[in-house]
Amino acid sequence: MAFGVIKNVRKVFQLDEIGWTALEPVVALDDATFEFEEGELVALLGPSGCGKTTLLRIVGGLIAKSAGSVAIAGREVTKPMGDYGFVFQAPSLMPWRNVLDNVLFPMEILRKNDAAARRHAHELLELVGLSGFLSARPHQLSGGMQQRVALCRALVHRPRLLLMDEPFGALDELTRMEMNDLLLRIRHETKAISEAVYLSDKVVIFSKRPARVVKEMAIPLAYPRSQKVRFTPAFTAAERIASEALGVVAPTADEAPAHAAQGAGRQ
Ligand SMILES: Nc1ncnc2c1ncn2[C@@H]1O[C@H](COP(=O)(O)OP(=O)(O)OP(=O)(O)O)[C@@H](O)[C@H]1O
Ligand SMILES: [Mg+2]
Repeated sequence: MAFGVIKNVRKVFQLDEIGWTALEPVVALDDATFEFEEGELVALLGPSGCGKTTLLRIVGGLIAKSAGSVAIAGREVTKPMGDYGFVFQAPSLMPWRNVLDNVLFPMEILRKNDAAARRHAHELLELVGLSGFLSARPHQLSGGMQQRVALCRALVHRPRLLLMDEPFGALDELTRMEMNDLLLRIRHETKAISEAVYLSDKVVIFSKRPARVVKEMAIPLAYPRSQKVRFTPAFTAAERIASEALGVVAPTADEAPAHAAQGAGRQ
């Protein structure tokens, strides 16, 4: 069985959850189904409001689903698991704690804030280029630096599954590209977290709400990847297939390079 199995997941937000009785129930997800392997990085792509965040929150055990099943490592997810890491769009660091103590916060909750944990926190902060800021407070950091702290905090307990919801969405394009490179480096340069889930091996594309999976595509680009890969035919072909599946560009008649990059295609 695959590491992550998401099967026929449906989510309807009922009136009482919204609090406005005038609103109809919202069908956020309708029959979302896909699988992923341990160590694979899966990106969810789809129109705004189609249900991606909802699905992430269900997979993370933060909200209940209305129907279907979500199993991670053979266990049905019903509540947040200790071996998960989360990164959201806002870094939400504790303003009164310094950088190191923000990163160590999950270890305090888990009552494992020992010397090994501190060593690991130092390693992670060094990896993201923040070893000079261990005792800085969040307000003394830029947005990108704060998000790097949030990433270290999500990784400090060596999660088996890392869930990220537009973690770099609030950053400018250049910083976002740097953060993407950083994720690739973390993924491939550290043995400690090599089983966790980092940059895209697979892209799962959703329809408009209620979201269904319209396409799953394997990304056939070799590692190590660098920004140069963005200018290769394989990259542009993959980008084009995803854009077509999303309906951002109309399908083209010339399908040859598209099929070459399609991998595990599913319509
Ligand atoms: N707590 C909630 N109560 C009621 N409706 C909700 C709730 N959370 C989300 N929704 C609705 O579910 C639908 C999907 O929302 P969701 O946040 O999952 O979209 P998304 O794909 O993440 O969009 P975006 O790309 O803009 O982040 C939307 O119509 C939204 O209004
Ligand atoms: Mg969202």
